[in-house]
Amino acid sequence: MTIGIIGSGAIGTAFARTLARAGIEATISNSRGADSLKALIRELGPSIKAGTREEAARADIVLVAVNWSKLSAALASLPDWSGRISEVFAELVPGARVVKAFNHLRAEILAGDPCAEGGRRVLFYSGNDNAAKGEVAALIDRIGFVGIDLGSLAVGGKLTQFPGGPLPNQNLVKVG
Ligand SMILES: NC(=O)c1ccc[n+]([C@@H]2O[C@H](COP(=O)([O-])OP(=O)(O)OC[C@H]3O[C@@H](n4cnc5c(N)ncnc54)[C@H](OP(=O)(O)O)[C@@H]3O)[C@@H](O)[C@H]2O)c1
Repeated sequence: MTIGIIGSGAIGTAFARTLARAGIEATISNSRGADSLKALIRELGPSIKAGTREEAARADIVLVAVNWSKLSAALASLPDWSGRISEVFAELVPGARVVKAFNHLRAEILAGDPCAEGGRRVLFYSGNDNAAKGEVAALIDRIGFVGIDLGSLAVGGKLTQFPGGPLPNQNLVKVG
């Protein structure tokens, strides 16, 4: 399973950091090109590579970590998603199996140690495709967090919506 990241800002970097800590490979990209990511790649170590937006978008699971206003440009003219898993608004990624995840915690908490207070930090996810959610749940578990399925995109999307939803910035730990 390959992982790509579009967006190397606070959330894209935090996600890459959690992957790097678990030794999981991924390709990260931004709007300025791979050269602008040299220092980050050096810091994160060998499992994370810099690439183009197109290279990141080719992965089996693609985390889109771009501000809402820039999303359509960031996703423009990419090939069909043909069943791959993406965390963005469905209409912008035709053919993708959309899972909303990695978006409710502040970036510095997402990047930090998932073990806390004798338990593991919680990450929420939602989506309409159970198999895709299963793959994201397995990834969440692999990087040391506890995943909680919020149900469909319509339900989970609203619960984790910022601002307005009840779950953004709830830094929860599951004990036992
Ligand atoms: N920050 C948080 O703590 C936090 C917490 C929860 C959810 N979120 C959500 O996560 C999303 C990302 O937030 P962020 O704080 O990570 O934003 P950010 O730090 O501003 O980073 C945005 C990234 O998007 C990239 N980008 C913009 N246009 C692009 C394009 N056309 N092609 C490729 N990449 C493009 C930027 O590339 P360049 O680096 O080249 O400019 C940058 O790396 C937002 O929707 C935000 O609401 C953020």
